[in-house]
Amino acid sequence: MSSAQKARFEGKVAVVTGGSRGIGAAVARRLVQEGAAVAIGYRGNQEAAAALVAELGDGGGRAVAVQADVADPEQTGALIERAVAEFGRLDVLASCAGIEHFDALENITSADFDRVFAVNTRGQLFAVQHAVPHLGAGGRIVLTSSVSASKAFFGHTLYAASKAAVESMVLNLSAELGRKGIAINAIAPGGTATDMARENGASYLHPDLAGKQDLSEWLQVGVALRRLAEPSEVAAGYAFLASADAAYMTGRTLQLDGGMF
Ligand SMILES: NC(=O)c1ccc[n+]([C@@H]2O[C@H](COP(=O)([O-])OP(=O)(O)OC[C@H]3O[C@@H](n4cnc5c(N)ncnc54)[C@H](OP(=O)(O)O)[C@@H]3O)[C@@H](O)[C@H]2O)c1
Repeated sequence: MSSAQKARFEGKVAVVTGGSRGIGAAVARRLVQEGAAVAIGYRGNQEAAAALVAELGDGGGRAVAVQADVADPEQTGALIERAVAEFGRLDVLASCAGIEHFDALENITSADFDRVFAVNTRGQLFAVQHAVPHLGAGGRIVLTSSVSASKAFFGHTLYAASKAAVESMVLNLSAELGRKGIAINAIAPGGTATDMARENGASYLHPDLAGKQDLSEWLQVGVALRRLAEPSEVAAGYAFLASADAAYMTGRTLQLDGGMF
């Protein structure tokens, strides 16, 4: 990391939801490497969150882990209040918490709908609502969509819709938040090598291809760069949108998918 990059978040404070694992953990690492103090939210994996805080602390960074289920807006509010109490301000919200869902239309229940939207959609909207009062002009918000919001996969309707709503949220909120000098954007990651991808990767294959094609074969033809992303590669996009380098960008969703058309 060059000193020019380190300066990007020197003196800044960030909240990263879903920061215990996967993309969120990579975002927390990247922001701390570039000088930020970070509050890492997680749902239940206290061990992973504590290990990350220790790793960041060993490297000279400032981080704290806070259990907060984003499906409950009050818990998200408490996470943000804790960040401000601990580090004295808030400059960046990186909303990375999310859950996956695959099932065919006939199997989707209203409980599934509520569970997926509670985390992926409602959770992100209320994270923004709680963060905004603490963000001054120059504050930056990065939400998480998915390549799935604009690409059809068999059985992926519920998850895709929960993420498409996020792209609409950043577009509309940009007008309101622009008046306060706050920018809001989203990242739409493609397949990224995390627990989520390991657990669900095979479900991206069309069922008619079962037994005929595996995920690595599909990646060769379905993704221009022919592989999954590393979480650190996706985190670089969050760091860009969270930084002053993206000063004139708001309301947009950055497709970070290795060319998944
Ligand atoms: N990986 C991909 O290929 C991919 C592609 C497109 C979009 N995305 C999106 O990118 C984001 C990160 O995905 P990932 O692959 O890093 O997922 P992951 O490996 O499954 O990690 C999920 C993270 O979110 C947290 N989390 C889940 N539900 C939560 C809740 N209700 N409240 C608070 N935290 C919660 C988890 O906390 P615990 O550790 O405590 O469980 C964990 O830190 C998600 O929004 C996902 O939809 C991922």
